[in-house]
Amino acid sequence: MRGGGALHGGGASPKSRGMTLRPILLWPDPRLRSRAEPVGRVTRDVAALADDMLETMYEAPGIGLAAPQVGVAKRLLVMDCVKEEGAAPRPMVLVDPEVVDRSPATAVCEEGCLSIPEHFAEVERPAEVTVRWTALDGRPHEERFAGLWAICVQHEIDHLNGVVFLDYLTPLKRQMITRKMQKLKRERARA
Ligand code: NI
Repeated sequence: MRGGGALHGGGASPKSRGMTLRPILLWPDPRLRSRAEPVGRVTRDVAALADDMLETMYEAPGIGLAAPQVGVAKRLLVMDCVKEEGAAPRPMVLVDPEVVDRSPATAVCEEGCLSIPEHFAEVERPAEVTVRWTALDGRPHEERFAGLWAICVQHEIDHLNGVVFLDYLTPLKRQMITRKMQKLKRERARA
C-alpha cells in the first residue's frame, strides 16, 4: 500500500546483504487478480523473498507490499506503517495471514497502491482487525491492528485474494483509473 500523502521515507530502510529489488507488477495484470496459495512451512526461500519484498517496499516507497505484487502467488505480505520522522522502523512479515476479527466501527482512509501508482481514493473498512499469521520464526502470532496498520494489513490481505482497492470504488471510477493505467503501461513499454 502507498499511503495518501504522508509516505514513509526511504531513509529508514534496514539494509542487509543479499537483498534484491523486485519489479512491482502494475495494474491491470491477471496476476493481481488471482488467489494466492498458502505458504505453509517457512523456508529459507520464504525468508529471502520477505527480505526482497521489504527492500522493494521501502525503496518504492510504500508502507505495505504483498507477494502477488512481485509476481509470487503466495500468501505473504510485508508492511511498516511507522510514519513519525526519526522513529525506529517496524518491518513486519506476515505469512499466511488471516483476519479473525473485525470491529463493527469503520474508518475511511485515502488509499493508494504500489501497483496503481499516482491514483488515490477513499476506502471504508473496519477500523480495527485482529490478524493471525505465521512469523518468519515459524511460530503463530496474533495482533489487534488499529489506525493505519489496520487499513494497510486489510489492503495487503486483499491482494492475496486478488482484490485491489479499486474494487471498493464505483465501476465508473474503477474503469477510469484502469484505462489510465493501461495507457501508462503502454507508454512505459514503448520507453
Ligand atoms: Ni496495494
